[in-house]
Amino acid sequence: MNSIDVTKLTSPLIGQQMLSLASSTIKLAATFLPNVLQSAVKTAPSSANWSTLPEYSLNQVSWHSYTGDCWIVIRDKIYDVTKFIQQHPGGFEIMMEHAGRDATLAYRGVGHSDDAEEELQQYLIGVLPLKERMYLKTS
Ligand code: HEM
Repeated sequence: MNSIDVTKLTSPLIGQQMLSLASSTIKLAATFLPNVLQSAVKTAPSSANWSTLPEYSLNQVSWHSYTGDCWIVIRDKIYDVTKFIQQHPGGFEIMMEHAGRDATLAYRGVGHSDDAEEELQQYLIGVLPLKERMYLKTS
């Protein structure tokens, strides 16, 4: 009952425009949907597996604050970014300012892209113990 029969519209031009709008919408959805689904699949493993990772305390993380051995905490997860610090698009120095520490606020403050988030996942090595977590509340 609610659908409009475009062939009965008084102005054929409006009907034509509506058809063209509908076809553009479908084309747009067909272009972007695979990307959306793909990115959902890509980010899933990292968020699913963190609970089986070894736990390291903030104190233990702080021992890894060197250019040749560099760990960083972001949202309670621990990343060994030793191999990445020299390639960081935002610079090496800024990474070293956060070496061995929790960099969550700095990382978020920059508004890193989804690409950065994806890059990050390959360096995941551990998680903070429950009592030191601020974001991941379950064990
Ligand atoms: C360790 C994990 C990190 C990864 C994987 C990472 C990755 C990236 C990537 C891929 C970019 C290019 C822009 C983008 O795609 O968003 C970028 C830019 C940048 N990052 Fe990081 N980043 C990390 C940590 C940090 C930290 C701790 C800071 C500290 C504030 C930082 C500061 C910046 C800045 C200032 C830029 C340049 C932004 C611009 O020029 O617009 N990043 N980072």
